[in-house]
Amino acid sequence: MRLKSVRTIRALKNRRVLLRTDFNVPLENGTVAAEGDERILRTLPTIRYLLRRGALVIIATHLGRPDGRVVPRYRLKPLAAYLGRKLKTPVRALPKAVGPQVAAAVGRASAGTVLMLENLRFDPGEEENSVPFARALAELCDLYVNDAFGNAHREHASMVGVPRYRKSYAGLLLAEEVRVLSGLLARPRRPMAAIIGGVKLSTKLAVIQTFLKLADDLLLGGNLANTVLKARGVAVGRSPVEEKLLPSLQRLKLTTARLHLPVDVITASGTASGLSTRTLAVANVRSDEYILDVGPDTVRLFDAVLRDARTIVWNGPMGKFELSAFAAGTIGLVHAIAHTRARVVIGGGETVAAVRRYLPKPAAAYPNIYLSTGGGAMLEFLERGTLPALRPLILGT
Ligand code: 3PG
Repeated sequence: MRLKSVRTIRALKNRRVLLRTDFNVPLENGTVAAEGDERILRTLPTIRYLLRRGALVIIATHLGRPDGRVVPRYRLKPLAAYLGRKLKTPVRALPKAVGPQVAAAVGRASAGTVLMLENLRFDPGEEENSVPFARALAELCDLYVNDAFGNAHREHASMVGVPRYRKSYAGLLLAEEVRVLSGLLARPRRPMAAIIGGVKLSTKLAVIQTFLKLADDLLLGGNLANTVLKARGVAVGRSPVEEKLLPSLQRLKLTTARLHLPVDVITASGTASGLSTRTLAVANVRSDEYILDVGPDTVRLFDAVLRDARTIVWNGPMGKFELSAFAAGTIGLVHAIAHTRARVVIGGGETVAAVRRYLPKPAAAYPNIYLSTGGGAMLEFLERGTLPALRPLILGT
């Protein structure tokens, strides 16, 4: 897939560029959480590219799921301040996303500066992909650049609506993500191993089906593996299971030799004040226990599979790694990945944060590891080979 790159825009001087970013990042104590700024940092090259060429950059992003209402904790002022510090140039947060006040502020702003619209999802028009909202956004700019790979699976007004009214281009990050992931689908070096973890199986079932066909080995961990274990008749105690998926899972070929499930686990039982943990074979989980991590034998088994792999895709942690008692599974896989020479692509905010935290050296020291800024978007791209918001950016459209 070849995209119209921001680099092909001939004249940027004094042009008003609406830059759609995905700054949907975790906030803590009123600012961007530690290790949560990946998406912001990765968009800096596109912003700098536009600024250096004399454009007025109008940043548009969503944050959280405010459902079309103004929710104060999702206001973007802290993000604008954070971005300003990273860019070393002030970023002015506007009080709304569209409207006369915003148009006036854009009219007054000089080239080479950065504005940030208020959270797009405060307006119901964004998620409804409404024509008036898309038009109102388009009227603020001369050109549209999309660098929001993490949101490219959403058919929202700022993603697919604005490009109907303005010339549209792919930002540097979005283009890089599409290049890396397309390459992985088209020419995977084999064997290819996919690791899927995380909480909800329903959100990852489609990609699991894809990998059952595409990958040579599929490794499942995290809470979602519990539903698969249950479908295979293994008791998983009090671990949350998506019961409604069990019939469809029984139809899936879960007995293939390429599917690797946890063989041992770490569980918790009791109350928060008197919590006890155990490491045990998966067959021995008691009815009062919750499975919260994969065990050491599983890590060894997964590590052996990953040693042979020449391509690795990973989305979703192996356990509740934010609690140190249940972090060993995820840490074990990060260490396995640190030693591989395979081409590795990792996505999902939590997984990327874990990888950054537990890699023995800074991530930049591993040129074979690519950290994607997409969670759902990465999975959907791997499943379908394209995404709705990419359509208007394809060369020749
Ligand atoms: C993400 O974080 O995956 C994107 O920003 C999309 O957010 P959403 O899942 O709330 O639509």
